[in-house]
Amino acid sequence: MEDLNDARTTLEDFFSVLPGNFVQPSPPLTRDTIYSTLATTWLGRRIELFDCLPSTNREAAQLAQAEVEHGTVVIADSQTAGRGRLSRTWFSPPGANLYCSIILRTARPPERLTEWLSWLPLISALAAAEAIEQVSSVHVSVKWPNDLLISERKVGGILCESGTGARSDPFQIIGIGINVNGDQDDWPVDLRDSATSIWQGRKIVVDRNRLIAQLLLELEQCLDELAVYGTNRIALAYCQRCSTIGITVRATLANGDMVVGLAEGIGQDGSLRVRPQVFHPGAGTPEVVHLRVADIIHVKS
Ligand code: BTN
Repeated sequence: MEDLNDARTTLEDFFSVLPGNFVQPSPPLTRDTIYSTLATTWLGRRIELFDCLPSTNREAAQLAQAEVEHGTVVIADSQTAGRGRLSRTWFSPPGANLYCSIILRTARPPERLTEWLSWLPLISALAAAEAIEQVSSVHVSVKWPNDLLISERKVGGILCESGTGARSDPFQIIGIGINVNGDQDDWPVDLRDSATSIWQGRKIVVDRNRLIAQLLLELEQCLDELAVYGTNRIALAYCQRCSTIGITVRATLANGDMVVGLAEGIGQDGSLRVRPQVFHPGAGTPEVVHLRVADIIHVKS
C-alpha cells in the first residue's frame, strides 16, 4: 500500500518551498522535462543543468574555451555570483527563477560580425519577451538595449559576452536572467521598487521547464531570422516591443556623462538615437546622438 506520509514528503521536496522565502511552489528544473517540450532544431541540443553555480555565464565561457559545441545551453537553479550589466550583481536565489547562458560559435565576415554582435543583446531581449508572453500571457516590453519590463518594472535582463576558444575561434555567450515565481517580499530592499517577477505581475505560477523551452525556440527563430534576412524585419519587431522609443530618457554614458532627450529610434547598428533636450532658448535644434552603451531611465512618455 502507498504510504501517504511518504508521498507528502516527496511532494514537499518536489515543490521545495524554502524557509523564510516567499517562493511560489513550482516544479523543479529537469533536463528530461525541458527536452520533452523543446521544439528547436539546433539550439539546446546539449543542455548542462546545475543546482548551483557561481554564474552560468562564467561556466559557459569555460565550456566554450574547452570547445563545446555551438548552441549548448547552461542552466542553474541558483547562482552565488550572478553577474549583471555594467558590473552589477544579479540576485539569483534557488527554486524560483531562470538563469541560463547560451553558447554560440558564429563565424561571420568581419564587416557583418560587428553588426551581428551589436544586435545580439537586442534580439535576445526580444526572444525572452516573446517567450514570457507565450507562457504567461503577461505583456512584456523591452527597455533599450535589453531590459525586460512588466508594467515598467524589471522582470529580466540579458548579459552578452564574447571571447576566443583554445584554437582562437570566437564564441559568444548570451546570459539571460528572468524573475519567474519569486515574491517581492523575498527580494533585497533595493530591488523592491524597481523589480518584478511573472508571479508578481500576474499571480500565476510558471513552470520554468516550459519557459526555458519556449525561450530557446524564440531565440533560435530570432537568430535564424537575423542570419538569413539581416536586421530589417527583426529591427521592426524589436521597435514594436521597445518602450524606450518615443519617450524622454535620461542616459548615463560609460564615461559618466549624462544625456537627457527624446529617444527617436534605433540605428542600423542597434544604437539608440536620442535627440538631446534644449535647455537654453535659442540654442537651435541639437544633433541626434547615437548611444551604444548607456544606462537608461525612462523619464516620461
Ligand atoms: C542585467 O544586468 O540586466 C543582465 C542580467 C543578466 C543575468 C543573467 S542570469 C544568467 C546569466 N549568468 C550571469 O551571471 N548573468 C546572466
